[in-house]
Amino acid sequence: MVLCSAQRKTQFLLLFTYLCLWCTDNTSLNAKAENNDSLKPGDKLNATSKLCSKQGKYCMNFEQLNDFDNLAYLSISPGGNDWHVWIANRDQPVDMDSAVLSLNQSGALKIESKFGKPITLYASHQPLNRSTNVATLLDSGNFVLKDTQKNTVLWQSFDHPTDSLLPGMKLGLNHKTGENWSLVSWIANSKLLPASGPFRLDWEPIGKELVIKHREKVYWKSGKLIRHNKFEHIAEDKEVQYTSVSNESEDSISFTLSTDEDFTIWALLGNGQLINRNRKGDTLARADVCYGYNTYKGCQKYEDKPACRNFGDVFTSKIGYPNKAMLNVIGNASYSISDCQAMCWRNCRCFGFKNYHTNGTGCMFFLSSEGHNIAAGGQEFYLLQENMQAGKHNRLWIWISVAIATALLIISISILYRARMKRKYMLGESDRNTMGTEIQHLEDSKASSSGNDLEVDLSKGDDLKVFSYSSIKVATNDFSSENKLGQGGFGSVFKGILPSGQEVAVKRLSKSSGQGIVEFKNELNLICKLQHTNLVQLIGHCIHEQERILIYEYLPNKSLDFFLFDSTRKKLLDWNKRFSIIEGIAQGLLYLHKYSRLRIIHRDLKPSNILLDESMNPKISDFGVARMFMKQESEANTDRIVGTYGYMSPEYAMEGIFSTKSDVYSFGVLLLEIISGRKNNSFYCEDNPLNLVGHVWELWKEGEVLRLVDSALNDFFSQEEVLRCVHVGLLCVQEHADDRPNMSNVISMLTNKSRVTVFPKKPAYYGRTTFEEETCFEEFTGDFTYSNSCSHSQLIQIDV
Ligand SMILES: *[C@@H]1O[C@H](CO)[C@@H](O)[C@H](O)[C@H]1NC(C)=O
Ligand SMILES: *[C@@H]1O[C@H](CO)[C@@H](O)[C@H](O)[C@H]1NC(C)=O
Ligand SMILES: *[C@@H]1O[C@H](CO)[C@@H](O)[C@H](O)[C@H]1NC(C)=O
Ligand SMILES: *[C@@H]1O[C@H](CO)[C@@H](O)[C@H](O)[C@H]1NC(C)=O
Ligand SMILES: *[C@@H]1O[C@H](CO)[C@@H](O)[C@H](O)[C@H]1NC(C)=O
Ligand SMILES: *[C@@H]1O[C@H](CO)[C@@H](O)[C@H](O)[C@H]1NC(C)=O
Ligand SMILES: *[C@@H]1O[C@H](CO)[C@@H](O)[C@H](O)[C@H]1NC(C)=O
Ligand SMILES: *[C@@H]1O[C@H](CO)[C@@H](O)[C@H](O)[C@H]1NC(C)=O
Repeated sequence: MVLCSAQRKTQFLLLFTYLCLWCTDNTSLNAKAENNDSLKPGDKLNATSKLCSKQGKYCMNFEQLNDFDNLAYLSISPGGNDWHVWIANRDQPVDMDSAVLSLNQSGALKIESKFGKPITLYASHQPLNRSTNVATLLDSGNFVLKDTQKNTVLWQSFDHPTDSLLPGMKLGLNHKTGENWSLVSWIANSKLLPASGPFRLDWEPIGKELVIKHREKVYWKSGKLIRHNKFEHIAEDKEVQYTSVSNESEDSISFTLSTDEDFTIWALLGNGQLINRNRKGDTLARADVCYGYNTYKGCQKYEDKPACRNFGDVFTSKIGYPNKAMLNVIGNASYSISDCQAMCWRNCRCFGFKNYHTNGTGCMFFLSSEGHNIAAGGQEFYLLQENMQAGKHNRLWIWISVAIATALLIISISILYRARMKRKYMLGESDRNTMGTEIQHLEDSKASSSGNDLEVDLSKGDDLKVFSYSSIKVATNDFSSENKLGQGGFGSVFKGILPSGQEVAVKRLSKSSGQGIVEFKNELNLICKLQHTNLVQLIGHCIHEQERILIYEYLPNKSLDFFLFDSTRKKLLDWNKRFSIIEGIAQGLLYLHKYSRLRIIHRDLKPSNILLDESMNPKISDFGVARMFMKQESEANTDRIVGTYGYMSPEYAMEGIFSTKSDVYSFGVLLLEIISGRKNNSFYCEDNPLNLVGHVWELWKEGEVLRLVDSALNDFFSQEEVLRCVHVGLLCVQEHADDRPNMSNVISMLTNKSRVTVFPKKPAYYGRTTFEEETCFEEFTGDFTYSNSCSHSQLIQIDV
């Protein structure tokens, strides 16, 4: 029961997030209207309220950064963006439900929750009974506490920077308070954990330069300010004007902007990069490529290169499935990815690394460069990329032997070729066909070798219609509520009728994909090429100012959940229909997963995303939208998890790791729902802590699977087919992604082309499960000496 209600709550949170994403602009408008930007004595900001600056440029509220704990951070974000420029309690999260920021009658500003002691941001030395303090969030992003009678600033967020530098904010030394203004990175380079990390950006008043330190070691220096808008090792920025001050009260640097068309906000990331959050996403400094011996673009020398590393060797970030056959683990949760990098660099046995804990801390080291699978899905890890140019002198002999081998090869090829031509000449016409296929073959391989050509070609294609905004407004009756068909994760859907009489579904996207227009169009053109009877067809698009609209074929029969979970309508779905729906979804999914260069992982497969046509054929909807919204994120390795509880695989829900196997999991849940006519999440709450998947597993163990079948079928079904389906369904929802079949196996099992012989393992069906890595862990000792305490057949669990 507890589990069920927790699940409901999370679902509600997800829904809430969707709604918020969609209406972000509206809320900032509202805030503008109400002009609610300050707290007066006695005012409180709780978990459900928000403070927005006058023009809505910045808002402050309590935010929960992930769905798995109930921890809140008081943060300031630029309106409409989901990153943070300031966090009040980065190292001391509070309880989300009871969190309150208050300005009390004696003028003290503090954060309280049911956890621990209050966090005092400001309290005066002599408390007054009736203070005149007011705390205001300004459009500069500064949260300022002022004594309105004396007109003095008592406290401001700009004096307590976190990882971001805004225009007008200072870096340096405040001689009045003895405190330093510095940026400190998050511990993890993700959006989950803002705790103070190992990188710090300081202003060095003596050398008058910016410095990035990693645990007190200087990794990078900016060099001197050579113009008002350029440091030696930071590219010139025409809009920026730096000001350095050195007087009795401070030694500082700050910048102002000459225009406010685009924003310029510096952020020090957890991997050591200093970036500009502007639309171009400029990188200002890269301490992540400072290995200690190189002095490239501001990197500083702090130690010698290990003998086993070459000049130019670097670690590069990959997405995919690292080979976990040989690895070392260090569970210390105070290690960030940059610590893993430093340790891996120094150890000649190490070829790569990734985070160990799901919150982005701890290290896993790979002791082999082989067997790593680079794929579109998976997780981020780092691999050593050896510099092929390096060690030229030592390797001279290699080059010589390569040259000799090449020469020999060329000679033998030309001999063979001549012999062949001669033969061909003698054979005359008869060999034409083989020649023809060879040429065809060559062209095919040329086409497949350059993925980029494909994108270029497709973006030129005009299959995708472009609609004018006004025509869409007419078609949907100005997005009237009568025309609204529904609200999904990525926006709301309206029915529309084109002048030609064609009915269409119009999806108005929410505004958080962060994609540029060119990128968006390219993506659409790719998705438009996906054609399959079990996918909803994209017809066209419309871009108008900030609006992005997709136009799909209209399906009159609504979605699967409309039928499946309604006691009368479900009778329309007999067993044959249900079986063909299961098969159709599987075919559509297989197509998405296997379509040659565009592997699409749906990530939100559930009955409401399966639409039915007139003959009740299933069509998967929303498939490309997930990709458009997520592509950037997976590249940046941010961890926003979108999906629906109950349908998300455990590795996706908990670690943000997604792959085709997470879709297989969702498909398994969907399949069991179709057979039983019951929702996974909501049915078994009353007296049983199991959800549908758990319930099916219990029935399976008792050999009572047929009791699962929807009573609306009145026992009209093929027992053999039902048993096979349930078996396949259970294989799909197994806890470990590697155990789950892929979609082509699923289809051959469903259609009885291959026998289902594997016995399913216990599924993942509780809200939280702990994972055991089925790999061999070697005990890690601090200085990374190799201790072979583990034979490869053993499983050793290292607890932190
Ligand atoms: C402004 O915010 C404060 C604190 O949340 C709240 O008490 C007050 O009612 C709000 N005022 C308006 C006009 O919404
Ligand atoms: C939070 O504050 C808002 C407005 O200030 C108020 O309406 C709401 O009841 C408060 N919620 C809680 C849980 O105190
Ligand atoms: C306001 O908070 C401060 C600091 O916690 C405390 O010392 C003071 O007594 C409080 N004043 C009132 C009126 O609650
Ligand atoms: C402040 O309040 C306290 C108790 O509420 C009272 O004893 C004290 O006299 C007040 N001081 C002033 C200056 O009003
Ligand atoms: C502030 O920075 C200076 C110079 O970088 C350093 O010597 C000093 O210890 C720092 N002070 C604090 C409180 O961190
Ligand atoms: C130092 O410079 C800052 C910024 O220009 C100024 O606000 C401050 O008053 C100056 N302090 C002194 C003691 O001159
Ligand atoms: C974890 O690492 C930190 C920093 O190196 C160190 O201070 C701490 O003692 C380590 N903790 C454990 C349990 O090894
Ligand atoms: C990160 O996760 C690990 C393991 O769950 C935990 O021990 C550690 O405290 C977490 N770190 C933070 C800062 O929450």
